[in-house]
Amino acid sequence: MGISVVERESMAEAESGGERVHIPVLPSAVLAAFARIAPELDGGWIVDGTVGMGGHAELLLEARPSLRLVGCDQDPAALELAGARLARFGGRVELRRARLSELRELVEREGFAPVAGILVDLGVSSLQLDTKSRGFSFQQDGPLDMRMDPTRATTAADLVNGLDEESLADLIHAEGEEPRARRIAKAIVEGRRRAPFLRTLALADCVAQATGRVGGKIHPATLTFQALRRAVNAEHAELELALECVRATLAPGGVFVAISFHSLEDGVVKRFLAARAKQDGWELHSKKPVEADHHERRANPRARSARLRAARRPLALEVSS
Ligand SMILES: C[S@@+](CC[C@H](N)C(=O)[O-])C[C@H]1O[C@@H](n2cnc3c(N)ncnc32)[C@H](O)[C@@H]1O
Repeated sequence: MGISVVERESMAEAESGGERVHIPVLPSAVLAAFARIAPELDGGWIVDGTVGMGGHAELLLEARPSLRLVGCDQDPAALELAGARLARFGGRVELRRARLSELRELVEREGFAPVAGILVDLGVSSLQLDTKSRGFSFQQDGPLDMRMDPTRATTAADLVNGLDEESLADLIHAEGEEPRARRIAKAIVEGRRRAPFLRTLALADCVAQATGRVGGKIHPATLTFQALRRAVNAEHAELELALECVRATLAPGGVFVAISFHSLEDGVVKRFLAARAKQDGWELHSKKPVEADHHERRANPRARSARLRAARRPLALEVSS
């Protein structure tokens, strides 16, 4: 199960001048995939839909001097860091605060389409996981928030304290693939009768007690936290709309790259690319997803669950909408 590694490990940071940084995963595979962008698209735009701290963006801008990049993220804190990191590329970079679900409209409205490349590196960043006040981690105490976009209306606390037991169990099961979802939902509903869950550690303890599993390799609250995060950020719907943007705006000869950390997301990307290959002749980068090698897994725990899929739209076909 993909993301469990991400959330139980030390979050893929490297100490750098006292600051923790997010290490971009599968850097060589990302560059290899985008190296296949047709030369006809020189001067065009790569859309990095999840620019985060700009790690992949920086690599791409260095490797492809003939291309420009528009970096988007729903998290203003991430955009600020990306802005500082990518400032040296001047006019070759544009940054926008946007959700994946808004990409198509943004790309078409601002004239970036048809685009030479699209990258989505899904999920949560090390910065988000490691910032206590964002409430993503069950290892550090913080408010039960989990919104990547702080303007979203619903927090994890709203779901945990507001859903009825059955809906909560369904959510934990569907979004977290947690087999003990019913038992966990029951314990949460009993616990919140005493006091609402407002902090991450209080919820993590409740889940650990409900499952009777404490001290194992994987924290017992891993899948519950993953489920809440996916629901709060509407991650499934966001991905579906990102893929719609890819289908509508990628130029002939352009390349799409997706990095997933969870089997549910990887399945969605896999089916999308299989359909594009069959119906529109897109050329798949590889049949199987690219995964990190031994060295990268050791250096960057976050890379252990990363799966990259990519494809190139054939030059001969016109973009359809
Ligand atoms: C794994 S990090 C990306 C890291 C980046 N590739 C780098 O090298 O620095 C994922 C980023 O995607 C953003 N993100 C996740 N889902 C999103 C969505 N639906 N819309 C916009 N941004 C999203 C998160 O806020 C986070 O900053």
